[in-house]
Amino acid sequence: MTTVLSSASAWAPARPEPASSAAARIARRVFAERFGCAPRWLAAAPGRVNLIGEHTDYNGGYVLPLAIDRHVVIAAAPAAADSGRVRAYSAALNASVDIRLDGSEMPGEPAWANYLRGVVSGFGERGLLLPPLDAAIISDVPLGGGLSSSAALEVAMATLLEAVTGAVLEPREKARICRQAEHQFAGVPCGLMDQLASVMGDEAGALLIDCRLESVRVVPFADPDVSVLICNTNVKHALADGAYARRRTECAEAARQLGVSSLRDATPAMVEAARGIFDPAVRRRARHVTSENLRTLAAAAHLEAREFVEVGALMYESHRSLRDDFEVSSAELDTLVDVAREIGGEGGVLGARMTGGGFGGCTVTLVRTEHVGSVAETLSREYRRRTGQTETSFISRPARGTHLVDPLTVI
Ligand code: GLA
Repeated sequence: MTTVLSSASAWAPARPEPASSAAARIARRVFAERFGCAPRWLAAAPGRVNLIGEHTDYNGGYVLPLAIDRHVVIAAAPAAADSGRVRAYSAALNASVDIRLDGSEMPGEPAWANYLRGVVSGFGERGLLLPPLDAAIISDVPLGGGLSSSAALEVAMATLLEAVTGAVLEPREKARICRQAEHQFAGVPCGLMDQLASVMGDEAGALLIDCRLESVRVVPFADPDVSVLICNTNVKHALADGAYARRRTECAEAARQLGVSSLRDATPAMVEAARGIFDPAVRRRARHVTSENLRTLAAAAHLEAREFVEVGALMYESHRSLRDDFEVSSAELDTLVDVAREIGGEGGVLGARMTGGGFGGCTVTLVRTEHVGSVAETLSREYRRRTGQTETSFISRPARGTHLVDPLTVI
């Protein structure tokens, strides 16, 4: 259940219907309006919020995301056999693009289509031949908000193409195809967290992912007394602008100087001991990653034990580390975390931090459910007063990973 919170009074109890079905109904209608017939397939993929474990995935470390019940849904049907393309219509952008199926697609304009081109190309490379398709895409994952709207688009496309071809991909392989799309077509050298969370999300809780082994364990988190409040600064970030790639290079450099294959094999003590050999910025990056791995494992254990105060303390510490050592926060993110901290435990806040790649996007705040309305209201008011900007908040419980929705059940 996802509830948009424009004010405390807008907070409402759970909708009985899965959010992906609501989104699927819209996708079905948009498809019918656009293409004049009913879709044969509806593929849904969720966004994600990361509770803790940031910028650790591409260092072979640990992450603790949960899939959120906000989705990209693609409605599709076979197109004329001789057209040789997927025609994809984005409702959000009111724009269409044709993607050739002869393997000749290259990254290009419009940029949003690169995620689709990349997934089509990944299927082609694996010898999975695609028939021509018409497709309509709708999304209620905020675009560019750090909640993996692009991974959700890739994963929804992959789920659609599985259905169309009859192929069944191993979930990790499917996530890798989507990551490859991001690397080769969108130009973002991301880790596997977002795609894996969108593929393997689980309603029962958060996913503790060991990014070296690509192993996934569900950490139960379905406590009705604690809510995950997601606040969008509405300041967009662009991971492709080079800062993300620079961080990745700095981490590789730190590992090289420490003589380990990745920062997963280093500890904060090793970073401290090697003080003299590091450029100060590289040392700070390594300090963040090595300490964040420890925090993530500790947070997973506390979450499992329902020790939410401890989880919250680790989230604050993660934010501080991302702000000061990894330097990927922003004034707006810091403001939301500061306000959450000022509200504090007495006001129902357990912890808060930026979530996702950074440079804007969203914060994730752990809140006692009985206080979620007043916390959201205070965050909204103070954010506007201190930054002059408007944030958008919603709560989300853990959601299941990507799936098909039967078009006949969403009338
Ligand atoms: C982005 C990337 C992920 C991960 C996070 C930071 O979301 O896509 O792979 O690196 O940033 O934790």
